[in-house]
Amino acid sequence: MPTPEVQPSPEAEARPPSHLFYLSSLRRPLVDRAEGIYFWTKDGRRFIDGSSGPMVANIGHSNRNVLDAMKRQMDKTTFAYRLHFENEPAEELARALSHKLPEGMDRIFFVSGGSEATESCIKLARQWAVATGQPKRWKVITRFPSYHGGTLGSLAITGDDALAETFTPLMRVMPTVPAPAAWRDRDNLSMEQRGIRYADMLEDKIQAEGPQSVLAFIMEPVGGAATAALVAPDSYYARIREICDRYGILLIHDEVMSGAGRTGKFLGGDHWSCKPDIVALSKGLGSGYAPLGALAAPMRLVEPLLASGGFQHGHTYAGNPLACAAGLAVLSEMDRLDLIANAATMGDVLIAELKALQKRFPFIADVRGKGLLLGAEMVADPEALTPIAPAKKATQRLLDHAYARGLIIYGRKVKGGVDGDNFMVAPPMIITREQIGEMIAIIGDSLEALAEELDLPVAG
Ligand SMILES: Cc1ncc(COP(=O)(O)O)c(C=O)c1O
Repeated sequence: MPTPEVQPSPEAEARPPSHLFYLSSLRRPLVDRAEGIYFWTKDGRRFIDGSSGPMVANIGHSNRNVLDAMKRQMDKTTFAYRLHFENEPAEELARALSHKLPEGMDRIFFVSGGSEATESCIKLARQWAVATGQPKRWKVITRFPSYHGGTLGSLAITGDDALAETFTPLMRVMPTVPAPAAWRDRDNLSMEQRGIRYADMLEDKIQAEGPQSVLAFIMEPVGGAATAALVAPDSYYARIREICDRYGILLIHDEVMSGAGRTGKFLGGDHWSCKPDIVALSKGLGSGYAPLGALAAPMRLVEPLLASGGFQHGHTYAGNPLACAAGLAVLSEMDRLDLIANAATMGDVLIAELKALQKRFPFIADVRGKGLLLGAEMVADPEALTPIAPAKKATQRLLDHAYARGLIIYGRKVKGGVDGDNFMVAPPMIITREQIGEMIAIIGDSLEALAEELDLPVAG
């Protein structure tokens, strides 16, 4: 079942040369419109958005109530600078958000994206340390692999050598601990024991760095693209909290991808009973309707900053009325349609279907995630967990096979971008059982095409 190469598409080739440049010069079809879980292109093709873009469109595309709320706001004002005016959408969104966050997480700082959110978290942590007489604390320990953003500050806390390499002279590289990929370990420990072992690596790192120099630890409670939805053993989360408390280190949860309901709880971290000190949100918060992100923290962290002259940080578009009106309407639709519950229920259906595919395609070594943030890791040998040769570009080929069949799924090389192949399935939270069936059929066909093309094992 040969799959045509996605590029070059004749329609794209016929268009005038683009003045845009991004990752590659690959031309993609021109999008026309989107609705629900679907996109339509100008040349009349339909695509299922099986990854919500890069896990953004949590409530689905073209939601009428969100668009109407934005239009109402547009008729009043789209921009009013926060140093000149307060605006109702920002006030209301901050209030609504604080009700969805763990108790006490009720101070909100708006930004316009995920990198701005994580970078704001570390700047808040640092300024808090200085304001409370701990100026020697500056190191932010992070996990490897991980992804926390592309700006220099957020890249410095991203565990990905391939992404960082060129820019390291411009950054202060931060200490790392291994991401808790406990499923890979071949030892006699139980998963819970492994969870403790991974968490204790943080304590070892704190000791090695000098406890008084460590400011914070940042982690994605449910992994994003760097680990394909990695979930740690349950024991990990509480132990990490305990270690951070023992050394007076702030725990930052990067919920840019896992937050805003995607995992079947408002925050990914809500699946465990340990609370972070600071939370970064973005992606699903604006759900693709407006660039929006937020940092949430308790008053005890914010008060010392305010008392010492305010947070020395901010971005021009932060808290603008239009983006906040969109965010407020997104949260309200999430409640009205009970989408977080649907993410949990449909997540159970989807993960069961992916596990069934794993039986058919034994080169899928692991299927994981929570709710509708799911990932699968592919290997050449499921026993030895040998990676598929990088030259085979397995992730990209699978994505191409699915794309050619009208399904968008997501994937990046794992293990810090060096090797390791995965794909992620993270459709909008409005997805139905039937639509999951439609996606799974395409994923099955695409895996079959990949197995044939790369000579990977298929069950009898
Ligand atoms: C966990 C996580 N943090 C931060 C970011 C950076 O967000 P943005 O691309 O909006 O700057 C991302 C983006 O993928 C992410 O997944």
